[in-house]
Amino acid sequence: MIKGFSKLTKVAKIEWLVQEYFEGNEKAREILENYWHSDVKLQKLHDEFIENTISNFYLPFGVAPNFLINGKEYAVPMVTEESSVVAAAAKSAGFWYDKGGFKATVKSTTKIGHVHFTWKGDDKEGLQDFITRINDKFYSETESITKNMQKRGGGILGITLIDKTADVPNYYQLEAEFETCDSMGANFINTCLEKFADVLKTEMSNSGLNPNEVEVIMCILSNFTPKCLVRVEGSCPIEQMVEGTEMTAEAFAERFTTAVRIAETQPYRAVTHNKGIMNGIDSVILATGNDFRAIEASAHAYASKDGQYTSLTHVDMSDGQFKFWIEVPLALGTVGGITGLHPMVKFAHQLMGNPSASELMMITAAVGLAQNFSALRSLTTTGIQQGHMKMHLLNILNQLEATDQEKKIIVKYFIKNTPHHAEVVEAFKKVRGGEILS
Ligand code: MEV
Repeated sequence: MIKGFSKLTKVAKIEWLVQEYFEGNEKAREILENYWHSDVKLQKLHDEFIENTISNFYLPFGVAPNFLINGKEYAVPMVTEESSVVAAAAKSAGFWYDKGGFKATVKSTTKIGHVHFTWKGDDKEGLQDFITRINDKFYSETESITKNMQKRGGGILGITLIDKTADVPNYYQLEAEFETCDSMGANFINTCLEKFADVLKTEMSNSGLNPNEVEVIMCILSNFTPKCLVRVEGSCPIEQMVEGTEMTAEAFAERFTTAVRIAETQPYRAVTHNKGIMNGIDSVILATGNDFRAIEASAHAYASKDGQYTSLTHVDMSDGQFKFWIEVPLALGTVGGITGLHPMVKFAHQLMGNPSASELMMITAAVGLAQNFSALRSLTTTGIQQGHMKMHLLNILNQLEATDQEKKIIVKYFIKNTPHHAEVVEAFKKVRGGEILS
């Protein structure tokens, strides 16, 4: 146990870790220092993002070009460690480009937060009347917080009392809806909610109700954002569903549709199916400095909103048309947070023409849909390992410390066959030993 760790300097923190967990091995210190940025100012910026920063953690920043969304072309920034993700998104973007690209609509952008409180009184109607009476106060007392948001077209949309005493004794919610425009809005919402709680307590003291009967348990936004929803669709005549193997377009479209039906009905498959979608979505979320934990939590809650976990994407084949779409909640921000701070995040936004939050919702969902399209295309045709192992091959070779020349020979060797880990190792040993691969 160490006390006051956060108060130590970065160097002292590292010194303690090296002594305590690496038996003083200098290599551990070197690894951390190698990843420090040479630009001291930039490093300081990173140091101050979180507490106890000792180094930086790099992830690849890639780009998937050719995303045509509502007629506009994007090169989408993606941050991920998984080898095949960017390649899959780019391949799918190219496929849909020729077919008119993706059609996207933001269905709504409302966010929700709650003052969770208990009230021990029994005049429920009186409580409702009281909340109705003080409703204007919630708005007037938060004016200094909401003023700027209102100028941008946002603010508080409504506040309702909800009786939850059937779930938890004496438990009520003040449920508030917000429009937070281009910001994700967590700080704005939480600040408003805490002020609502103050208003609730103060006004109760001024009313006939007993203020001692109310206890505010917590004030917090909900990361479940089913009213902050985007829909993206790709569609084409079935005969255009040509995917590069010998399978006919109709047969591919049928197999693909069956794969989606499986995900719609089987939670075991739906989780993996949606994980693939999140491969794309999270990559854009990370690149744009958004909160991937919030997006993940909301997406999976949305996938279970009807009582069973199901697919986030859907498909329809009728009148000779193949239609594939996603509907997903995405509470994103293009201002605030680290969007104006992290140079790579700023670059990511600039690369897409500094989109509004709604535009970013459409781009992100399109990448999720594209990702799912690529995964299902591989799964229902060649199998997933062909593309996946091709991309992973370099990781294995890097682990084996293969030279560039060895990599070139081995990648060429595996161009036609899906390599397994053991086969790559064997091929590597042969090349290293001077044998010709045949
Ligand atoms: C791997 O990261 C993602 C997939 O498993 C998604 C899927 O099965 O649909 C390929």
